[in-house]
Amino acid sequence: MRHFLIDTDTASDDAVALVMALTDPNIQVEAITLVAGNVPLEQGLQNALYTLELCGKQIPTYGGAAQPLLRELHTAQFVHGTDGMGDIGLSLQGRTPTPGNAIDVIIDTVKAFPNEIELVTLGPLTNIALALAKAPEIATLVKQCTIMGGVGKGRGNITPVSEFNIWVDPEAAKMVFDSGMKMKMVGWDISRNHACIDPALCDEIKAIGTPFAEFCMDIQNTVKNFSTDVTKLPGFDLPDPIAMAIAIDETVATETADVYVEVIIADGLTRGQTVVDHVNVTKKAPNMEVVFEASRVQFLSMLKAAVK
Ligand code: BDR
Ligand code: CA
Repeated sequence: MRHFLIDTDTASDDAVALVMALTDPNIQVEAITLVAGNVPLEQGLQNALYTLELCGKQIPTYGGAAQPLLRELHTAQFVHGTDGMGDIGLSLQGRTPTPGNAIDVIIDTVKAFPNEIELVTLGPLTNIALALAKAPEIATLVKQCTIMGGVGKGRGNITPVSEFNIWVDPEAAKMVFDSGMKMKMVGWDISRNHACIDPALCDEIKAIGTPFAEFCMDIQNTVKNFSTDVTKLPGFDLPDPIAMAIAIDETVATETADVYVEVIIADGLTRGQTVVDHVNVTKKAPNMEVVFEASRVQFLSMLKAAVK
């Protein structure tokens, strides 16, 4: 059995990533920790707890940081809907998270399973940075940390060069990127290029006919419009699910490289940029395995299997 800990700002694509992990028979999700990002913390908790209920799973789920380390919280409700789940009328309130604090849970879980925990981060890196600040020794005890965030090659989705998760809390991202943990970055370019779901494919997935299939597609209601109107994609994309697919099966990533990546903590258009030193002009040691290409075919087959 593999041991996962998932840190998430649960909104519509995070929920699909959760379904993928929770339905995999080889994965034990030890804990789910919530961070503010796509939606305020309390809403993210409700969205995660709703998703768990749908999956019939009781996984300890904890609240963590309600705001970035130093900056004001900017949510992505303009992308994922006011409730983060497409505003389709789901009942996203009244569920109770597990008592305890996400930061301590991250530390304690990593220590309880030394070199076994596979961390998957689907939101801003605030919780992980706080855990590393409190217990720096966990950096060497994490088996692998797969990060949905940043940009390996190309454009950003919140500034011309920056991706949302890193942009929301760049100071936290910098602390994590510089921590020495074994990390893999799945940037927004991987999602944009390999994880777009156009209307025909969306219909095909919904036609699988299970509650999971309908849920996973229906909650993309608002992100679908945003992707078509603003990011000009041929449908909605699924950043967190393709990162989760790579965390579950590393062969979904078809081209990666160990490189030095620097997170920009300045203000302005480069805030949260992940500068990838492809040819090592900085002469700095690699701190990140960056995914540059992925298999759309493998991703889609994992997605379809998860919602069957
Ligand atoms: C990332 O930001 C959020 O909108 C998504 O959930 C994903 O984690 C994509 O930039
Ligand atoms: Ca997310």
